Amino acid sequence: MLKLGVNIDHVATVREARYRGMGHGEPDPVAAALICEAAGAQGITAHLREDRRHIQDRDVWRLREVIQTRLNLEMANTPEMVGIALKLKPDIICIVPEHRLEVTTEGGLDVVAAEAALTETCKKMHAAGIEVSLFIGPDAGQIEASARTGAQFIELHTGQFAEKFTAAELAAPTPGIELQRLVEAAKLAHSLGLQVNAGHGLNYENLPALFAVPHLVELNIGHSIVSRAITDGLGAAVKEMLNLMAGYPQ
Ligand code: PXP
Repeated sequence: MLKLGVNIDHVATVREARYRGMGHGEPDPVAAALICEAAGAQGITAHLREDRRHIQDRDVWRLREVIQTRLNLEMANTPEMVGIALKLKPDIICIVPEHRLEVTTEGGLDVVAAEAALTETCKKMHAAGIEVSLFIGPDAGQIEASARTGAQFIELHTGQFAEKFTAAELAAPTPGIELQRLVEAAKLAHSLGLQVNAGHGLNYENLPALFAVPHLVELNIGHSIVSRAITDGLGAAVKEMLNLMAGYPQ
């Protein structure tokens, strides 16, 4: 069965928009993680960024304490993050490139260029019982290099697929070019013994098209789920506030 890891970064983004630097506030990404688990999600993903723009250190420690499924810590391959991961002991880390000016993770890792450093991190994580996934574009060279690092997983970057997706693709007799790249990448990764996850930009419209990609283990999805929760929950939230205001004594 295809597993779902819910990325809760955007819950923290909303909290930080109002409560930055306060050490508390709503919505709480840890409470959100528990709701995701109760709804059946098989994992929780949180990206602790160098600039701490959404998820904070206290969030990942509380997540480690309370979640019952798998904790996937997304992180850059920096000494600071490697140190945190080795202490935190998430079930798995997903190494991503990180650039200060990007809105979200915009491209895949260049594993070819960073092979030695990534191999070193894989060794440290494996010695601590932590699995490693590398977030990469659907590129044969990157997949081959990923296999050489000793990582158990790759996460295929589905951003290009999601960006170019049109509803017509669902009915098309053959997959479009971006989908075909993911299909070929998944086949190659599987043949090299890598387990294949995927994520970025997946939503309720484009997801069915991804069924053409073989060997998928887990999808990491954040934005579309948090967006859907806001629109689906907004009516109830407004009604609750109006009920409270109805108590005004005039
Ligand atoms: N996987 C990785 C490695 C990511 O960096 C992100 C974005 O934070 C996601 C999955 C989830 O992407 P989205 O929020 O578009 O669903």
